[in-house]
Amino acid sequence: MARWDSRLWWNTFTQLAKNRRNAAGVMEMRLLEGKVALVTGATSGIGKAVAIGFAEHGATVIVAGRREAEGRTVVETIRAAGGTADFVGVDVSDADQVERLISRGAALFGEINIAFNNAGIGSSSPRLADLNLDDFDRIFNTNVKGTFSCLKFEISQMLKQGKGGAIINTTSIEAHSALGGSSIYTASKHAILGFTKAAAVDYARDNIRINALSPGMVVTPLAKAWGGEATDIPAVLRRIPMGAFGMPEDMVGSAVFLASDLSRYTTGSVVTADGGYLAH
Ligand SMILES: NC(=O)c1ccc[n+]([C@@H]2O[C@H](COP(=O)([O-])OP(=O)(O)OC[C@H]3O[C@@H](n4cnc5c(N)ncnc54)[C@H](OP(=O)(O)O)[C@@H]3O)[C@@H](O)[C@H]2O)c1
Repeated sequence: MARWDSRLWWNTFTQLAKNRRNAAGVMEMRLLEGKVALVTGATSGIGKAVAIGFAEHGATVIVAGRREAEGRTVVETIRAAGGTADFVGVDVSDADQVERLISRGAALFGEINIAFNNAGIGSSSPRLADLNLDDFDRIFNTNVKGTFSCLKFEISQMLKQGKGGAIINTTSIEAHSALGGSSIYTASKHAILGFTKAAAVDYARDNIRINALSPGMVVTPLAKAWGGEATDIPAVLRRIPMGAFGMPEDMVGSAVFLASDLSRYTTGSVVTADGGYLAH
């Protein structure tokens, strides 16, 4: 099987996904009108698309991430389309910063009704014995401790508000299976799924619904870093029944469903948006 260089890999990855896109008309409903939504990892990729998508559905959006310039660009995109948004800087691996994010977001817009806990980092490909404890700490501090801190302070805020809420954690197809060569990342996504289920059970009677979105392979900088020269694109594509990678915008509908009252009887659950990968 031929190996592809990384530039060709990325071009193919992007083109295949773009070819498939045809979402005209789907975004015309406004399912999140009057809600305030926090999106972490909103400066790029899936989080950026979901922040813009939430705003298109009428939500006021708190755009969160470490990179202020990128975050402010997302805010400007939302405002230019007539929406309401503001940026709050956060490093989710620091629990104090997460606590400040929630109080600042609630102070800005009165309350937080929806949270999309999406900030995350991937890992490069060595097998488990080649990884070290620094890799473990880096990935777990962002993906697992970050999600835990977000859940903790968001749930506290929603309990204080007394109106329930909807929380979505970004997991991955690697919360359900192992692609190979990313054991710490895979374990971190399994852990996020565990927090999703446990917290959903704990807060169901408070009307705080907590679900997970499991993307498949989506064209973002994170995926670009994962796919390298050694990645065999035709082989990866053969594992996706729909025969194409996802675009960040392909995640929006699933996130809106979990954030909106359309999923009012759904908690502790997972929506996969993976072109059928896990079904194969
Ligand atoms: N792309 C895929 O194929 C794929 C598949 C399954 C799951 N996912 C998951 O989807 C989520 C989003 O990833 P993506 O693919 O959209 O990648 P991306 O474009 O690289 O975005 C990652 C986002 O996470 C933020 N982030 C990373 N570390 C952070 C930290 N310590 N504190 C605050 N924000 C942080 C980044 O913002 P700043 O750098 O500005 O902080 C960025 O906005 C991740 O949880 C990832 O695991 C992706």
